[in-house]
Amino acid sequence: MNGPLYDFFEKDHRRIEELLKKATADRHHIDEQGYHAFRTGLLRHIKMEEKILFPAAQKANGNVPLPLQAKLRLDHGALTALMVVPPSPDIITVLWHVLEKHDELEEQPGGMYDVCENLTRNETARLLDQLRRTPEVPVQPYNPAAYALDSARRALQRAGFDFETILHGKTENG
Ligand SMILES: [Fe+2]
Ligand SMILES: [Fe+2]
Repeated sequence: MNGPLYDFFEKDHRRIEELLKKATADRHHIDEQGYHAFRTGLLRHIKMEEKILFPAAQKANGNVPLPLQAKLRLDHGALTALMVVPPSPDIITVLWHVLEKHDELEEQPGGMYDVCENLTRNETARLLDQLRRTPEVPVQPYNPAAYALDSARRALQRAGFDFETILHGKTENG
């Protein structure tokens, strides 16, 4: 059975996916208000992990970072960079891909959430309280400049994702 922290974050993943799905039902006419709710929801979620959950787990782990932590942080950097650029159909495709891979690493049995839950067993209530009180993250207007997209591509690259490969499938070696 999953613990309360796992449930909290898993539920938030589903909520955020639902927001993205609704806002981008027509990828050529994004629902701006809906997409704003998705952006702020995702950025708050990342903040809860980076500022509350992961540090608490690391502390309980004798201050040694957890094995998945570095990769998840790079994913968070890529997702954050994708929140800066206007949501084109290509960006939406890439977002879904990264979100699915990322959430799996957190949710899978023995994944990040299970590890964090186990390490912080004696402070679950306090952490949940802190998580629920996390304020929204203010967002800037989109940046349509080419360098913003370049920097999202580089952030994806660092996290092991290739923008073009995600869009067009694997072109080499199947
Ligand atoms: Fe995450
Ligand atoms: Fe997450």
